[in-house]
Amino acid sequence: MKIPILVCALAYAVFTFAKDSAWYRDTVTPSLPPQAVFVDPQSFAVLGANGTFRQSSFDSGFNPTGTEPPFFQIFDLAFLEVLGKAPTITEIASNSTNDGGPLGMSDIDHNNKVGRIDLKDLPANLNGTAINIPVTELDLPPTIQMTNGGTGPFRGNILLINSGRGPLPPSITLVNPNPPHNATVLLDNFFGRQFNSLNDIKVHPSGKIFFTDVVYGWLNHFRPEPLMPNQVYRLDPDTGAVRVVATDFDKCNGIAFTGDGKIAYIADTGASGGFLGNNQTEPATIYAFDVDPKTQVFKNRRIFAYADAGVPDGVQVDTEGNVYAGCGDGVQVWNDEGTLLGKFFLGTTSANMVFAGKGRLVIMAETKIFLAEIAASPSLFTS
Ligand SMILES: *[C@@H]1O[C@H](CO)[C@@H](O)[C@H](O)[C@H]1NC(C)=O
Ligand SMILES: *[C@@H]1O[C@H](CO)[C@@H](O)[C@H](O)[C@H]1NC(C)=O
Ligand SMILES: *[C@@H]1O[C@H](CO)[C@@H](O)[C@H](O)[C@H]1NC(C)=O
Ligand SMILES: *[C@@H]1O[C@H](CO)[C@@H](O)[C@H](O)[C@H]1NC(C)=O
Ligand SMILES: *[C@@H]1O[C@H](CO)[C@@H](O)[C@H](O)[C@H]1NC(C)=O
Repeated sequence: MKIPILVCALAYAVFTFAKDSAWYRDTVTPSLPPQAVFVDPQSFAVLGANGTFRQSSFDSGFNPTGTEPPFFQIFDLAFLEVLGKAPTITEIASNSTNDGGPLGMSDIDHNNKVGRIDLKDLPANLNGTAINIPVTELDLPPTIQMTNGGTGPFRGNILLINSGRGPLPPSITLVNPNPPHNATVLLDNFFGRQFNSLNDIKVHPSGKIFFTDVVYGWLNHFRPEPLMPNQVYRLDPDTGAVRVVATDFDKCNGIAFTGDGKIAYIADTGASGGFLGNNQTEPATIYAFDVDPKTQVFKNRRIFAYADAGVPDGVQVDTEGNVYAGCGDGVQVWNDEGTLLGKFFLGTTSANMVFAGKGRLVIMAETKIFLAEIAASPSLFTS
């Protein structure tokens, strides 16, 4: 039977041609892991005269498929390389009565609290079903007031950055990760003046400490009026020398470096204004800078990403140079060129996240903590 063979050959040829064509690439979507949803940017490029448009980036996230959080929202299939073959995202701890400032537990009259979770308490198979492991409160000395961020390990210790409270100064402290959690203050002023309210901190691969200072303590009624611009500083932990490395922000916030230390990312949360209210015409923006190899001043500022939900707060970078930021709808991930790959969509604000070794991203989200088990790894030992 010759004719069917010819038909088969023709069909094969057409298939082979189609497989190499743009049509095939654009229409054949690889099978997605559970908890993942692909939202093709073409599917919402035009909403039309009767479309449902969002009025506020603070009120609602962009969830056109109406999927129940938590889930992986994919805008570019390269996100599958970040997620790996069998990703999961699961709520691992929560306490609905405990949300610091918004629930009145930390303010001018109440210091905030630092808790510890132990990932050894997690069951073996996380699959998206919420669990609740214990959170142990650390008994920290009173030099630590209103902790806003942290990083480490740094020379065997945790580095906490603290906003200060009332007249008690903002500070950077080394904290013993083990009981009794004793602390040493590394810095609490700039040539005698208090910082505004210190916010976030990272250690550069060179060993120098970089941190942001911003007015949120005043905007949230627990610090006096600011005395200095919102800026990014460098502390040399060996000499104690402090200098400014970047300025001209609305409200500089999260900070991160690429693994080679050549690029710095700074989030500007200008749109979030505390008692002044939110203003969507101000920044919700991540800037990229080159780190000067000699002075470590941040140069060549450029736009890296603008978040579509809330403001980008804490930032992390993985080994491939992908950039993660806590935003109004969860954690958003861009590749090193600033293309939004996808989101860890939580339906709630995430202020920060941290890699707990390879393939484990711990995400802080108001009254909840999530763990994403993915393929990506942190760019630096200290993240
Ligand atoms: C939009 O809605 C109006 C009023 O219901 C209707 O007349 C019009 O056809 C709709 N336009 C489109 C593009 O669907
Ligand atoms: C939840 O947080 C509140 C306030 O900090 C605390 O009193 C309570 O013990 C916490 N609940 C649990 C189960 O940890
Ligand atoms: C996840 O595992 C729990 C038990 O550990 C089970 O009750 C639940 O149905 C599972 N959920 C999914 C989505 O597989
Ligand atoms: C904690 O105390 C021990 C014992 O005095 C000391 O060796 C260590 O440096 C202290 N750590 C910090 C971070 O202050
Ligand atoms: C929002 O910010 C813009 C730019 O700074 C300013 O012109 C405008 O008055 C602000 N709007 C409100 C409601 O504060």
